Amino acid sequence: MKKIFVHFVGGAYRTVAPLIFLVDSEPAHDFVLDMSEFMGKISGVPALMRACLRVSHPILKTTVAGIDFENPVGLAAGFDHEAQMPRIVDGIGFGFQTVGTVTNGAYEGNPYPRIKRLVKSRTMLVYKGFKSTGMSAVLARIKGETWRVPIGISIGRTNPLKEYTYEAANADIIEAFTKARDSGVPFSYFELNISCPNMLHEISYYQPDHLAPLLALIRDLKLPKPLFIKMPIGLSDDATKALLDTIMQYPVAAVTFGNLQVDRKNPAFDQAELATLAKYPGNWSGMPCQQQSDHLVKLAYNHVKGRLAIIGCGGIFKAVDAYRKIRNGASLVQLVTATVFEGPQVAAEICADLPALLARDGFKHISEAVGVDAGNPEV
Ligand SMILES: Cc1cc2nc3c(=O)[nH]c(=O)nc-3n(C[C@H](O)[C@H](O)[C@H](O)COP(=O)(O)O)c2cc1C
Repeated sequence: MKKIFVHFVGGAYRTVAPLIFLVDSEPAHDFVLDMSEFMGKISGVPALMRACLRVSHPILKTTVAGIDFENPVGLAAGFDHEAQMPRIVDGIGFGFQTVGTVTNGAYEGNPYPRIKRLVKSRTMLVYKGFKSTGMSAVLARIKGETWRVPIGISIGRTNPLKEYTYEAANADIIEAFTKARDSGVPFSYFELNISCPNMLHEISYYQPDHLAPLLALIRDLKLPKPLFIKMPIGLSDDATKALLDTIMQYPVAAVTFGNLQVDRKNPAFDQAELATLAKYPGNWSGMPCQQQSDHLVKLAYNHVKGRLAIIGCGGIFKAVDAYRKIRNGASLVQLVTATVFEGPQVAAEICADLPALLARDGFKHISEAVGVDAGNPEV
């Protein structure tokens, strides 16, 4: 019954979506966040949303990095950079959420436009560059709250630094981690974001020589909860494996593949539609991320051999997309763009449809499906 209802809500959203898309992306996004925060504070509303939209199934319950998840579908970093949604994110069906990316210092964001949709290409141009009110302000907003699903915080370096050296960047990131660690806010995990392609000045953690000192500093913080790392999708396979080799030398529990697509030649773009945004800087979510993140989930699964959990992110719109990433090696999945093109109930729809896909293939539990296609080059 709930399955029918969530698909009905999804169908209704997709019918009116062309009208919603008449509103510019960033104001629409800000409105959704403000409404979410408002509704989350009205007594009874989160419970009502849960009753209507949350789809639970024992086959989807899983434990990853020592954290229990009622379902494997998370809201990825970037949708809710100021942590306005954790009170209702479970009410729209998600199994977990990464808030942020939050930075130590405040930044008003890169110049406009910073979010633009391309409907045919099922992608968004993103150029926010870590807009953030800063770690202290974000923590103050959510201090004292508790949540029904695991909430993690994504942390990156403040975009405009006083000086662009690795020492300064590392110190900035460590200060942000320290504030989050000591805040008393009940985060279930921390996510280090090393892969935002929209920074003003290049400080790159894509070389093991640069990443290792930062991971050593984070190790010394003795974080009380697991550390995840948000990975780029644009590196070569060898460079990705070199980063994974470095990461495995530190207490890191999971890697998320991955962040935005930089390559405008990706075949998922409708070229005529892409040309309408040719003059704008920024990078791409959604469908142009799908194939490469599918590939990297598989590559990472084969390379790390169980020493890290893999979180698949990029171009997940339907249950089949989530299922493909799980079969490639993802223990959890995350999404952002599908909430715009499929609707805010998309996690509930995926959770409604995943059990049948698992059962069709004879799996009694989601964990049995993780990585079954990782050895198959055809898939
Ligand atoms: C508007 C927007 C803002 C984003 N901001 C962040 C961010 O702050 N930190 C981050 O790690 N990823 C960020 N991302 C990337 C997403 O987390 C995700 O990796 C990417 O969009 C691919 O997933 P998707 O195809 O489901 O959107 C952002 C994505 C979008 C669409």
